[in-house]
Amino acid sequence: MEIKEIKLEELDSEKFIEAKTKEIGSTVGDGLAINALSGGVDSSTVTMLGHKALGDRLKTYFIENGLMREGEPQRVVSLFEKLGVRVEIVDARKNFFEALKDLTDPEEKREAITRAFYRDVFSRIVKESGAKHLLHGTIYTDVEETVAGIKRQHNILAQLGIDTQKEYGYGVLEPLVELRKPAVRRVAKALGLPEEIYNRMPFPGPALVARVIGEVTPERIETVRKTTKIVEEELSNTVAFQYFAILHPDKVTGMRDGKRDYGLQIEVRCWDSKDAVTGSPTELPYETLSRLAERITSEVPGVVSVTYNITKKPPSTIEAV
Ligand code: XMP
Repeated sequence: MEIKEIKLEELDSEKFIEAKTKEIGSTVGDGLAINALSGGVDSSTVTMLGHKALGDRLKTYFIENGLMREGEPQRVVSLFEKLGVRVEIVDARKNFFEALKDLTDPEEKREAITRAFYRDVFSRIVKESGAKHLLHGTIYTDVEETVAGIKRQHNILAQLGIDTQKEYGYGVLEPLVELRKPAVRRVAKALGLPEEIYNRMPFPGPALVARVIGEVTPERIETVRKTTKIVEEELSNTVAFQYFAILHPDKVTGMRDGKRDYGLQIEVRCWDSKDAVTGSPTELPYETLSRLAERITSEVPGVVSVTYNITKKPPSTIEAV
């Protein structure tokens, strides 16, 4: 990998911000650039850097892919509005669900998301906006994991030999590619982003797709979305690194009202980790686990089984897909 990492201890956030602002300004010139904001720390940092460099010449979009958590699009848009950044929501739910139809293989699902995002939705927006550049929140770890063949991160393009200019008609700028997550968080804070962004729990690029094993349909996403809300409510008082719910593909036998009920299986994961490179399951109190099972089976339609993951990373990974 030729990119040189800027280590946390070497990072001077103010200097970094100044250098990247200049670089973005001189590359884009007096043209237009666009970027997609998901509300994650990486895309939020790029959005702030880009607006610092380009002002209104950066158009920021929130792609509503139908795969985010409850209320997320509106929450992110209003948070950035308060920071003086206008964000336009693009309804692309149909593109994503069509791209995911009939797919069960994890890598194929990731690829489908990459294609729907960059080829279908983004190239359309770029064309309509007249922008020649896309600002992109790729970080050092995304490149590293993809190149190592662990998982294809949804936002890796050039490093996989994809020529964006040729294939999609726009050039990509990656101002954060030398940083790992802790360094990005520091830059985000220095840019004035609120703590709920710079300290946000990681959420994967492929969104809830990373948490649906097997085929992704709007109904299955809705199941995982409702469950995620419960898990986040119940575990937000822990200091865990990351927690979430996964929907399994097979139905299992359960019982309801004295009758057999083939129902859905949910797996809850809650991780202790420093950097997501390794991790172990948080030793949650049994009471908490019990309450999770109680709430999930009574509040999420169709769920008859809830399990807790007790495996370390490795050999597990943090996400299931
Ligand atoms: P894994 O599952 O590889 O996740 O152990 C490591 C960390 O990266 C977050 N993350 C992603 N994971 N695809 C993933 O599988 C992505 O595109 C992605 N983006 C972020 C993940 O949530 C965990 O914190």
